[in-house]
Amino acid sequence: MQNKKIAIIGCGNLGTSILNGLLEKKVLAPNNIHVTKRNISTLKEFEATGIHISDNNELAVKNSEILIIALKPYNVVKELEKLKDCIHENHIIVSLATGITIHEIANVVGDIEIFRAMPNTAADVSESLTCLCSNSTDKNTKDTINYIFDTIGKTIHIDEALMESATVLGACGIAYVLRFIRGMIQGGIEIGFDAKTAGEIVNQTVKGAAELLIRRKEHPEYEIDKVTTPKGCTIAGLNEMEHNGFSSALIKGITTSYKKIEK
Ligand SMILES: NC(=O)c1ccc[n+]([C@@H]2O[C@H](COP(=O)([O-])OP(=O)(O)OC[C@H]3O[C@@H](n4cnc5c(N)ncnc54)[C@H](OP(=O)(O)O)[C@@H]3O)[C@@H](O)[C@H]2O)c1
Repeated sequence: MQNKKIAIIGCGNLGTSILNGLLEKKVLAPNNIHVTKRNISTLKEFEATGIHISDNNELAVKNSEILIIALKPYNVVKELEKLKDCIHENHIIVSLATGITIHEIANVVGDIEIFRAMPNTAADVSESLTCLCSNSTDKNTKDTINYIFDTIGKTIHIDEALMESATVLGACGIAYVLRFIRGMIQGGIEIGFDAKTAGEIVNQTVKGAAELLIRRKEHPEYEIDKVTTPKGCTIAGLNEMEHNGFSSALIKGITTSYKKIEK
């Protein structure tokens, strides 16, 4: 893996999170990493790491085997059109763009190995959940791409038909959870905590609840049953939330996001 050569084309927010993951976990020799964007001054902090930073996409592609395309979706096909003459059959493309299919990419670059990846912004703290799909049948290639995204969190493979659903549940999901956290903090302030203390309690409680499910692999209701004493305050609060449409609002929000993305 150390010898693989990777380019991150369009190294903005998400590209930088991936770059940080690769550098922190020392997955590749820095000399084998090429990153590009038009305004490279924002990548100044990486100059000392020994990676190649430039605004020349063509040069980065020519010097790499794996091309992580981290451009905004509207730029992806346009930029690949410009680069297609330097993309050859041994290149592996990994596109992060929402809504651009493997078929659309293959139409530009030809019949090569193409992956789509849908991480989320928790990549910044190496806690992303990245959904991957591909046209590749090669186990080694799949393991390599998996390994790259494992540096920014956890990785699962899904069917391409579910990539839009993955965008909603995983990428938009970060915002849903954050809004839930904000609501809990507001409630905490109403019952006596200052905002900072409420935040500390809620953040760790949410993390703890997620860890219970991740480690024990149980259904949420199983863990809920453990904290709901008959006639107690937890079940009273929970039922009040449900009477006000708590789960229903979440489900409707998720399906509304999905309908919007499908258009
Ligand atoms: N944020 C999320 O939660 C999330 C989750 C999953 C997937 N995605 C996908 O990830 C992709 C990147 O998102 P992001 O949030 O990282 O966007 P971003 O911060 O805007 O990064 C894109 C970068 O592309 C650079 N760029 C624009 N034109 C270029 C060109 N011709 N050549 C080289 N670089 C160019 C821009 O920098 P310059 O202007 O300096 O060139 C910019 O920094 C998107 O396709 C998005 O759909 C995002």
